[in-house]
Amino acid sequence: MARAHPATPDAIELLKADHAEVKELFEEFKKLQESDEEGTEDLKQALMDAVCSALKVHTQIEEEILYPAARAVLPDEEDLMNEADVEHAGAKDLIAQIEASSAYDAMTCAKFLVLAEQIDHHVEEEHTDMFPKLRKSTMDTKAIGVKLAARKEELTAEMEKAIAEAPEGLRPSMPPKDGGRPLRG
Ligand SMILES: [Fe+2]
Ligand SMILES: [Fe+2]
Repeated sequence: MARAHPATPDAIELLKADHAEVKELFEEFKKLQESDEEGTEDLKQALMDAVCSALKVHTQIEEEILYPAARAVLPDEEDLMNEADVEHAGAKDLIAQIEASSAYDAMTCAKFLVLAEQIDHHVEEEHTDMFPKLRKSTMDTKAIGVKLAARKEELTAEMEKAIAEAPEGLRPSMPPKDGGRPLRG
């Protein structure tokens, strides 16, 4: 069961903090990609892993908790909510492709940069359109925040457990040239 949180998180503040965290990781990746420095693949891979994990948890808590609650309080915003769902589906598809490969593959790095652009666009819409509308709505963002935080904690723990238990050599595109050093664990 989820533990009690010392401070009550507001739903919108919690989600914005997630967005900021992911944006920072994407920026670090972009800097490495643009530097053309050799031997940064493992570092890029670590950033990819961190972003994909964070985004999977983030999209899931929004889909399970925030979006249904938003649809309930914003009945006239069906288009906005549908668009958000479609953007999540697009992101999940790209994440699955990225996770099936690695940072050693140039096409996968390109996919990751496209994911960054798509997430940027999606976050912008949440910040400038959806969240302000929710703020003005009857939504109890404190109560939703508590639910989001608890579910996030649960999913993060599940994901960490799965990563810890995953067999080595998860990524077929990892080159074995350096002795096949495992990326995870
Ligand atoms: Fe979202
Ligand atoms: Fe979001």
